[in-house]
Amino acid sequence: MARICLNPSLLETLTDKVVVLTGGATGIGRSTVQQLCKNGANVVFGDVVEGPSLELEAELGSSAQFVKCDSSSYSDQLHLFKTAFNKYQRVDIVVVNAGICIHRDIFDPTADITEEPSMKEIDINLVGSIFSARIGMHYLRQGGGGDLVLVSSIAGWKECGGLVTYTASKHGVVGIMRGLHLTATPENIRVNVICPWMTRTRLVLGIEKGWYERDLPVNEPEDVARSILICATANRGLNGRTHQGARLPFAGKMIHVAGGESYEIEDEIKNLEPFWLGAENSRVLGKGQAYLASEGTSWDTTKSH
Ligand SMILES: NC(=O)c1ccc[n+]([C@@H]2O[C@H](COP(=O)([O-])OP(=O)(O)OC[C@H]3O[C@@H](n4cnc5c(N)ncnc54)[C@H](O)[C@@H]3O)[C@@H](O)[C@H]2O)c1
Repeated sequence: MARICLNPSLLETLTDKVVVLTGGATGIGRSTVQQLCKNGANVVFGDVVEGPSLELEAELGSSAQFVKCDSSSYSDQLHLFKTAFNKYQRVDIVVVNAGICIHRDIFDPTADITEEPSMKEIDINLVGSIFSARIGMHYLRQGGGGDLVLVSSIAGWKECGGLVTYTASKHGVVGIMRGLHLTATPENIRVNVICPWMTRTRLVLGIEKGWYERDLPVNEPEDVARSILICATANRGLNGRTHQGARLPFAGKMIHVAGGESYEIEDEIKNLEPFWLGAENSRVLGKGQAYLASEGTSWDTTKSH
């Protein structure tokens, strides 16, 4: 585990960068839009909620534009990205943040099994994130590369009782990073994922009281926004200048955000693999992974040789 501390001088690299962000109306997304604009970026953000989005747009002036966009709609997302590209002729950073959590447990033994459960968490958190990543990659490529920052959760890698569908969706978001970063890095696109622990937004109202009584660590939305900015700027410094604790290239990383601090944990999961998988399993797995990552290997039977 490596604690990562923001190097404020890297925020200068955000000047005039074009950012597309989903879910910017409230909470973490709103704070990220504010921090990006404060540091000179131009942000085009999507959300389903109009009132707070229009307020944010008015607060930030010409550097922020709101586009009504339901992340679970592919055509809405195409429109969001196209609006940004048409306005600025490029996209440098994509932040995939829109998400919901349905607090009614569909696995509750008293739940009515004849009633089809909502899959909106999958549609917005997972399918929507895949849409953002796919369209985002297309636009980042136009400018020769950039940064894709995904927002998962502690539920992206840890057990979260009572939140089965949410947990599955957020594990999926970590899966987008793991599925994408190896092929994206050679295209100069860095894919990283943030996994915030408890953050003071409307998403956690149900558990807030007990949490504070136990004096457990809390993030403010600004802390998670800072972690997103760390990911978006870690590779942008000249001559290897980066954030304290960050290892370059900063790609394929998973950031645990807890108590306001950011910690990179994916490198250590990889480093410890021989311990939890066994040395021989780990060695053979490495061989298989190297084959799969080598040039000419393809899952597509029309392309493999
Ligand atoms: N608050 C936490 O403790 C916590 C912890 C881990 C991860 N997260 C994740 O952080 C992200 C932001 O959540 P938050 O805590 O700021 O809560 P929030 O509810 O304040 O923010 C979520 C934003 O997404 C928007 N949104 C919802 N459905 C949408 C849709 N279909 N299309 C576009 N936008 C939509 C909402 O309107 C809102 O602006 C989410 O992905 C959430 O899962 C939050």
